[in-house]
Amino acid sequence: MIVLIGFMGAGKTTVGHLLAERLGLPFMDTDLVIEQRTRRSVRDIFGTDGEPAFRDLEHTVTAELLAGPDAVLALGGGAVQHPATRQALHGHHVIYLEVGYAESMLRVGQDAYRPLLRDPGLEGIFRRRLASYQVVATQTVPTGGRCPEAICLDILARLGRTPAERP
Ligand code: S3P
Repeated sequence: MIVLIGFMGAGKTTVGHLLAERLGLPFMDTDLVIEQRTRRSVRDIFGTDGEPAFRDLEHTVTAELLAGPDAVLALGGGAVQHPATRQALHGHHVIYLEVGYAESMLRVGQDAYRPLLRDPGLEGIFRRRLASYQVVATQTVPTGGRCPEAICLDILARLGRTPAERP
């Protein structure tokens, strides 16, 4: 399994689609699977049931997808907060798409469907998560100022699937 992790706005979904296409693998996104299964939006689950309930659901779905057929899998930005999810990532290619806080905020804008964007402590959450991303990552890929196609080529090269990206 090739798993993409990183903060909101890191490009997990965009890069994941490109990568899956290049590799001829299905693309899956845990947020989307959660929304399809529950027939509710992430925003509604956060708002009605609370973040801990969302995290448990996110862990269940992530563990199940990780145990399933090979794919490119994008995790939600907070999935690595769950210790059992970090554990479940062992043995997979875990690609950490690294983004700075300011750039991440520029990329996501005022997305009403990302409930954490309204959290006044968001920058602190960002900082606290950095160690968790690093600890589970098998590759750390910088994304600042790079287009999704270049990031995708970089990942393919790191996975030994294509020649190295030209400057
Ligand atoms: C979250 C990130 C979102 C989504 C939810 C919580 C987070 O996914 O799972 O809003 O805690 O960072 P993206 O990283 O795909 O935006």
